[in-house]
Amino acid sequence: MPILVTGGAGYIGSHTCVELLNQGYEVIVLDNFANSNPEALTRVEEITGKTMKAYHVDLLDRESVKEVFEQNKIESVIHFAGLKAVGESVSVPLYYYQNNITGTVILCEVMQEYGVKNLVFSSSATVYGTPDKVPIKEDSKLGATNPYGRTKQMIEEILRDVAFSDPSWSISLLRYFNPIGAHQSGRIGEDPNGIPNNLMPYISQVAIGKRQQLQVFGNDYPTKDGTGVRDYIHVVDLAIGHLRALEKVQSIKGIEAYNLGTGIGYSVLEMVETFRKVSGRPIPYELTDRRSGDISTCYADPAKARDELNWQAMRGIEQMCKDSWRWQYHNPNGYNKAFSKQNIRNDRNPVRYAAGFFNV
Ligand code: WQD
Repeated sequence: MPILVTGGAGYIGSHTCVELLNQGYEVIVLDNFANSNPEALTRVEEITGKTMKAYHVDLLDRESVKEVFEQNKIESVIHFAGLKAVGESVSVPLYYYQNNITGTVILCEVMQEYGVKNLVFSSSATVYGTPDKVPIKEDSKLGATNPYGRTKQMIEEILRDVAFSDPSWSISLLRYFNPIGAHQSGRIGEDPNGIPNNLMPYISQVAIGKRQQLQVFGNDYPTKDGTGVRDYIHVVDLAIGHLRALEKVQSIKGIEAYNLGTGIGYSVLEMVETFRKVSGRPIPYELTDRRSGDISTCYADPAKARDELNWQAMRGIEQMCKDSWRWQYHNPNGYNKAFSKQNIRNDRNPVRYAAGFFNV
């Protein structure tokens, strides 16, 4: 029976679709393409040699979400769809609460209506806010410090209430640390809109010559070289973590949170140096003030995912940088930017195989 992947055209969603298809799952994607490109789905099919259904649907459109469940006997849901820019969430919080929280509530109501109660939810380490100690365990105090992070924290609470009200639900909350890298084919990867907020896409755009230089936000943190330390995790390791969590929700009821990180922290300057080495490109940078809201150090204790999901990250920082660079080098402008939203036919019932759907 098929797995529904909401936000399946996004960075982590598309990489997870590759692993699901390679594992033999039937995959159905639901995406509104607000923050993703349909081209990613065509490339997922190219990489795997498999096909999947794609629905151009917004989670806030309840009737269309119901249509997806009406037309497919969905077994489980992996829920990525959501807005995720910290800075943007501070300026338009209501947009984030409406999109992320209401969208998730509608999804869960429709799942309940169709008796689908296996859910893997894309949460984030940002729910920890400023950690009181590192490495961070799942029972650490939660305290998101921005609207984006608060949507993730609130959704986790909503899902705990759902699981408490109906023990037949089975839910995994996956708290990602810092996903970077790309599939080794170089055909799918991170494709941020506009100026990248995150470190790795910015570094790779400097390397390709699209950005002049990197601004290093602060070098006066209490860390090895004064710059911020994070737990970078290869997006393919992260995707595989979703398959382990899917197996878990298909076998055991209840709700659990898991940190998906490597357990190793790297500083900004270590990332710059590693990327320079693997790409052979200079990465000019300037040291500037701290970015407001940033924390000094954040990395996971990944023991619970190892013990309960039989999962751990396998790819190291050089591999992450190599794969990021290959994606950027072969896709200097990300996915085909010429492919704009009006190319997507807004059929009443836009059921198409990904490749077919987008050959409009
Ligand atoms: C990493 C380090 C910056 C850009 C964010 C979200 C989090 C999650 C992952 C969704 C920090 C420094 C960055 C730059 C820099 N996303 N930096 N110059 O802030 O740890 O986490 O992305 O779940 O929710 O908060 O990631 O990549 O923005 O920053 O010096 O141009 O790189 O100060 O130390 P962050 P990041």
